Amino acid sequence: MNDETGIRGSYWLETAPPGDPAPPPSGDIAVEVAVVGGGIAGLSTAWELVREGREVAVLEADRIAAGVTGYTTAKLTALHTLIYDHLRRTRGPEGARLYAQSQTEAIRHAAGIVGELGIECEWEEAAAYTYAESPRNVEKLRAEADAAHEAGLPAEFVTETGLPFEVAGAVRVADQAQFHPRKYLLALADDLRRRGGSVYEGTRVVGLTEGEPCVLTTDADVSVRADEVVIATHYPVFDRALLFARLSPRRELVVAAPLAEERAPRDMYITPERNTRSVRTAPYGDGRRLLIVTGEHFSPGATDVEERFTRLSAWADDRFPGLTHTHRWATQDNDSTDSVPLVGPLHAGSRHTWVATGFGGWGLSGGIMAGRLLSELVSGRTVEWSGLYDPRRLATVVREGTSFLKHQAHVAKHFVGDRLPSLTEPALKDIPRGEGAVVRVNGRQYAVHRDEQGRLQAVSARCTHLGCIVSYNSAEQAWECPCHGSRFAPDGQILQGPAVHPLKRREI
Ligand code: FES
Repeated sequence: MNDETGIRGSYWLETAPPGDPAPPPSGDIAVEVAVVGGGIAGLSTAWELVREGREVAVLEADRIAAGVTGYTTAKLTALHTLIYDHLRRTRGPEGARLYAQSQTEAIRHAAGIVGELGIECEWEEAAAYTYAESPRNVEKLRAEADAAHEAGLPAEFVTETGLPFEVAGAVRVADQAQFHPRKYLLALADDLRRRGGSVYEGTRVVGLTEGEPCVLTTDADVSVRADEVVIATHYPVFDRALLFARLSPRRELVVAAPLAEERAPRDMYITPERNTRSVRTAPYGDGRRLLIVTGEHFSPGATDVEERFTRLSAWADDRFPGLTHTHRWATQDNDSTDSVPLVGPLHAGSRHTWVATGFGGWGLSGGIMAGRLLSELVSGRTVEWSGLYDPRRLATVVREGTSFLKHQAHVAKHFVGDRLPSLTEPALKDIPRGEGAVVRVNGRQYAVHRDEQGRLQAVSARCTHLGCIVSYNSAEQAWECPCHGSRFAPDGQILQGPAVHPLKRREI
């Protein structure tokens, strides 16, 4: 809840709140498969393996389905903005076909699970659109419609949509879906337990020793032995293949407001214009649906988040006049440098360790796809699209060149530049109530927060992942690392990895 405005946080968390936490293991345990991370990729993998009769434990640092999965827009579609024309050029028509087939199969598989388990998760079939208002972008949409159609999707170029404003053109793909992600995942976790799987919450994994078995250590000093280990922590907490060099974290904002049913679009929309605008609606009751608008992506550590929220809300108000905003939240995605998720062996020499990451903004279909794929790989089988998603795939200049270099330049700029003294560095006395800033005290950089009562608390400004300097996001009250997206509470506790240790407390 935002106290000043009465605006609430994630609608998905509000309408499917967490129950009692599942406690950490009371002592060392041994299992066949340990899955680190209880979001959609981890829970899907664990559920598939338990269904095959494997002995599986899910280890979640916080609460299951409450990290990135609790803050998504919950679209289940194989149409990922403008991916197919890109894939056709970088991975060839066969790569585009495999991408379309694997994502479509994931959506159908989820529909099957919903039917089989009778999950009440507001599942709705809907079409997905990528649209543009500017005539300048119509050719890109035509190319995308052509590439998506060639890849096997029921894609077409159209000029009419269900949006209440005109578009210059759109790609439409029928038979996609939208749902309530937490209702789906909490039911999946219940079924996993019923089938003999284990879920441990509040269990942060801090160490991994590969071997036979692999050994995981946790912050509660409990170790977990496992024949196979799956790292599904969104941004991988263990990186043995320098995946961090191929992943860029990106935050994105969400605003939501109820709308009369007759005014609510029923399908799902996205445009890459205006720094992305995405629209869907969800059942809300009382003859209304909740309009959910996403956009304004930025790198973690940006300090203009409140202005971005204002811009996104203003766009929603302009396109859907008369809204009363009720919710707002933010999500975080990891973009891979070639726009294809990294799902498969953790590194080149890996025999029993696996990873799923880099889903961009499409973690729901991607997470379900990853669950299917990893359960096959862990069981010694392959599927047609194993190679497409294999994290060991070689980077090429065509696929990743510019994006890879840009990301490295971004990290280097922060790693080096943020350490240098600058003329605009604030002093302690300049930090207003409810704000934070990095200040230099005796040559060391401290991340200092002043609470609403005026009390200061200081933590080290060096991110515990690889040492970049954090900055304060006052709209979300978090220290954020611009390099790989770790996030920390004002007192330094971890909100989001890849960091596995809190920021150290400092006295000032
Ligand atoms: Fe990598 Fe902070 S997240 S250095």
